[in-house]
Amino acid sequence: MATTAARETARVVDAGTYRVTIGAGLRHELGNLVAAAARAHHYAIVTDDGVAPHYAPAAQADLKRHGRTSVHRMPAGETHKTRDTWIRLTDDLLAAGCGRDTTVVALGGGVVGDVAGFVAATFMRGVPVVQCPTSLLAMIDASVGGKTGVDTAAGKNLVGAFHPPSAVLVDVDTLRTLPDAHRRAGLAEAIKHGAIADATYFTRVETLLPAVLAADAPATIELVARSVEIKAAVVRADERESGLRKTLNFGHTLGHALEQASGYALLHGEAVAIGMVLEARLAERLGVAERGTAAEIERVVRIAGLPSAVPGNLSPAAILDATRHDKKARAGAVAFALPAGIGTMAGAERDWAIEVGDALVLEVLS
Ligand SMILES: NC(=O)c1ccc[n+]([C@@H]2O[C@H](COP(=O)([O-])OP(=O)(O)OC[C@H]3O[C@@H](n4cnc5c(N)ncnc54)[C@H](O)[C@@H]3O)[C@@H](O)[C@H]2O)c1
Ligand SMILES: [Zn+2]
Repeated sequence: MATTAARETARVVDAGTYRVTIGAGLRHELGNLVAAAARAHHYAIVTDDGVAPHYAPAAQADLKRHGRTSVHRMPAGETHKTRDTWIRLTDDLLAAGCGRDTTVVALGGGVVGDVAGFVAATFMRGVPVVQCPTSLLAMIDASVGGKTGVDTAAGKNLVGAFHPPSAVLVDVDTLRTLPDAHRRAGLAEAIKHGAIADATYFTRVETLLPAVLAADAPATIELVARSVEIKAAVVRADERESGLRKTLNFGHTLGHALEQASGYALLHGEAVAIGMVLEARLAERLGVAERGTAAEIERVVRIAGLPSAVPGNLSPAAILDATRHDKKARAGAVAFALPAGIGTMAGAERDWAIEVGDALVLEVLS
């Protein structure tokens, strides 16, 4: 049977309080897997308009065998990762009769995962969430670690909660319907995981890249599993981001600023790709990174078909200004997580946060 085969070839990564199961075809046994991780009276599937047509009906049918179900859709895209969407979804859950004995099933990309996770964190003061990521970025990054939240006009992810999932269920076959640009964007986070923690994996990502872009299941399972191992290990060492977890922000201080300055025209992964190249350059200028680090990251970013330079229509001053709204900015100074080389980060003695003056940041942005 397809379901047995799916379970046999699946990889399981222990993320501390929960497990991440990565396989091909897992969605065909979603009901059993969700119920085993977070049994409830009511399963509330939260999804978006891009994912729902492909996967929501089968997910709901399978979950029906385990209890009451409802499907709650939000419009797709970062611009809907808002408090308004959170209000609508929580009202919808109440209208559907969800109570404390509800498990939220987040079925979608990172936007759905973050919003649905925040709904679960706050609904009835907190109900379980099972993350079922369907984008590569959500599989290798967003669904693991327990960060949930929404954006505000002042910046990304400024209102949220830590709410680790009961389980993460990754069916790599769902990537077949993911648009190509989003597959490439997800690869940015895999490149990041190699760059911050594992030079061997950095090389492996380059090797696996063509097969992953073609949605090949074994290659994707390997990539997702190693990325999740790296992220889970870092998060486990530092659940609340007081130290080591900051290394995961590599490429993200400028990445988030670029994303915001572009009005979210840049995908998160595209912005992070540019952010990694620029931040590695900053690290080299500061003398904390080995020479050639930025060039090596840029080379792989380009092979992945990701952008590596600031789009011409964005002004360096506007990007710098946007870094001030980032949570990582404290007391007027912008702190960066910077590499020492491929596979190692600098600044352990400075709590992995290296403050950089505006002049140098502007130089790199120009
Ligand atoms: N919580 C965390 O730790 C964390 C980490 C990294 C990123 N994030 C967040 O993740 C978000 C980005 O996630 P994303 O890149 O997945 O964006 P996304 O959720 O917007 O998904 C991208 C697009 O692809 C569509 N889609 C998703 N899966 C699909 C599939 N299988 N088939 C067809 N279409 C599909 C979606 O409808 C959407 O239009 C950002 O908001 C970012 O802040 C969170
Ligand atoms: Zn990211």
